[in-house]
Amino acid sequence: MSQTAFDDVRRFASIDSTNRYLLDEARAGAPEGVVAVADHQTAGRGRLGRSWEAPPGANLLVSVLLRPDLGPDDRHLATTAVALAAVDAVSDTTGTALAVKWPNDLVDGQGRKLAGVLAESDLAPAAAGGLAPPVVVGIGVNVAWPGADEDLPPDLVGRAVSLRMLGGRPVDRDTLLTALLARLGGPDGRAAALGTAEGRAGLARDLLAACSTVGTRVRVDLADGSFEGTATGITPEGHLLVATDGDGTRTVVAGDVVHVRPGG
Ligand code: BTN
Repeated sequence: MSQTAFDDVRRFASIDSTNRYLLDEARAGAPEGVVAVADHQTAGRGRLGRSWEAPPGANLLVSVLLRPDLGPDDRHLATTAVALAAVDAVSDTTGTALAVKWPNDLVDGQGRKLAGVLAESDLAPAAAGGLAPPVVVGIGVNVAWPGADEDLPPDLVGRAVSLRMLGGRPVDRDTLLTALLARLGGPDGRAAALGTAEGRAGLARDLLAACSTVGTRVRVDLADGSFEGTATGITPEGHLLVATDGDGTRTVVAGDVVHVRPGG
């Protein structure tokens, strides 16, 4: 079982993207456990080709290099492991309970996004022999920005939030980072869970317990169209089960999921 410590923390005042940095390090043979954290990213990456922006010094922008022994069907669990470690870390440091909006957002009780997770993998043969393929998982946590709704563009008001807004006081980014890496690393950490069938089952179970999407009316946007239904569960691989309106239950492996508000 992996007992990676996540104690090789590389800090950057400014970098294009911590995910890009770790993918390049991985291609050069870096082991699991390297961490990259930045005060500012000039080309931060979000899901689906979007950018991820935050003012310098405001938010936690961090990526971790994993080399999990996962089959192709289980890869979403790498995102899950980091998302759950972040939920735990935010609770540890601020007492705030977050939920996971499937597949990759951490949201508050009003469904406002506090953090996003982006996993990127490189399945090319490892540069250094014997290493499992890398998965770089990055997370951006809104710590101090936005400071208030007024900081947000109008279309994000009510849809994004920060720890500062939730707690009304500053949260130290380094304290949150330390808590995140503690929840991820070591024999009982979320990363080690990826290495065993029992651990993976536990991740899927904890995702179900933390998931605000399950029980919600959703629209699922796929590359080739969209459909609506009610999210009913999470598979052992961390995928979303959606009972559709006329086509039985579908398993969503990847896609954009919109929580459809009643009447909206
Ligand atoms: C999303 O919600 O679209 C995912 C956002 C992920 C952003 C983080 S910030 C640290 C890491 N480096 C990146 O370039 N992106 C991720």
